[in-house]
Amino acid sequence: MKLTIIGSGAMALALAEGLNKHYQLEFIARDEQKLIEISKKFNASYTLLGDNNIENKKILLCVKPYALASVSKQLHGKALALYSILAGTTIAQLNTHIQSQYTIRAMPNVAASFGASATALTGDEIIKEEALEIFTTIGKSMWLGSEKELDIATAIAGSGPAYLALVAEAMMDGGVKQGLKREDSMRLVEALFGGFAPLLSSKHPALIKDSVMSPGGTTAAGYASLEEKGVRDGFIKAIESAFKITQK
Ligand SMILES: NC(=O)c1ccc[n+]([C@@H]2O[C@H](COP(=O)([O-])OP(=O)(O)OC[C@H]3O[C@@H](n4cnc5c(N)ncnc54)[C@H](OP(=O)(O)O)[C@@H]3O)[C@@H](O)[C@H]2O)c1
Repeated sequence: MKLTIIGSGAMALALAEGLNKHYQLEFIARDEQKLIEISKKFNASYTLLGDNNIENKKILLCVKPYALASVSKQLHGKALALYSILAGTTIAQLNTHIQSQYTIRAMPNVAASFGASATALTGDEIIKEEALEIFTTIGKSMWLGSEKELDIATAIAGSGPAYLALVAEAMMDGGVKQGLKREDSMRLVEALFGGFAPLLSSKHPALIKDSVMSPGGTTAAGYASLEEKGVRDGFIKAIESAFKITQK
């Protein structure tokens, strides 16, 4: 199957890392120098943005949301399927600009470049299976029942790496503050995150916490400090703030 990726930015490249093992890729973008490098890297064809025919193509739209109107003016024809990763851009908005038989919104994250994205999908149920198959090549993908849910998922899956990066960096700094070498602190946190993923798949977070926290112990003392500083509420508010942006 051939997929046409529109855009040549960070997410277009992250998605291509997984997709190119399963699909024939074609890129459409405005920067020819980038397109030349990308086409070599992914053994893909490319076309400069400008009066492009998308008739019957399967499009993966990876430009910035504000660029939708200007980019779509350069496309003509009716696509077979439009897969959009544009944050906060509804299917109705997409279809005002780009004609397509079927439209899907997808929300992946930058871990796609390691085949480890968490991708939420919604849209035309008729191509649900194809959508899940495409995005499973870049990690885990799940179907959601509405665009509102996809916007909430955006706040977790799309923005999540930035929130976890904050946690990781803060823990590294904490180690350094107490006297650990920066490099050792970094390696410890990295290993912690690597080990946490399988742990989380096997147990509810509350049970993980209970299993580590002994009465009057080190974890209980640290955990109390996190609660005192409102870390839990901070994360809940972060998801709320990110979701609100998608509703503007
Ligand atoms: N970054 C994330 O973690 C993440 C996660 C999920 C979804 N998304 C969504 O993914 C999309 C792309 O994000 P990104 O992080 O890949 O951004 P990016 O690295 O800045 O790439 C944006 C792409 O859009 C192109 N573009 C911007 N304005 C344009 C215009 N007026 N005409 C033609 N092309 C234009 C850029 O072209 P040039 O290279 O020529 O400037 C570039 O190819 C966004 O819609 C975002 O909401 C991002």
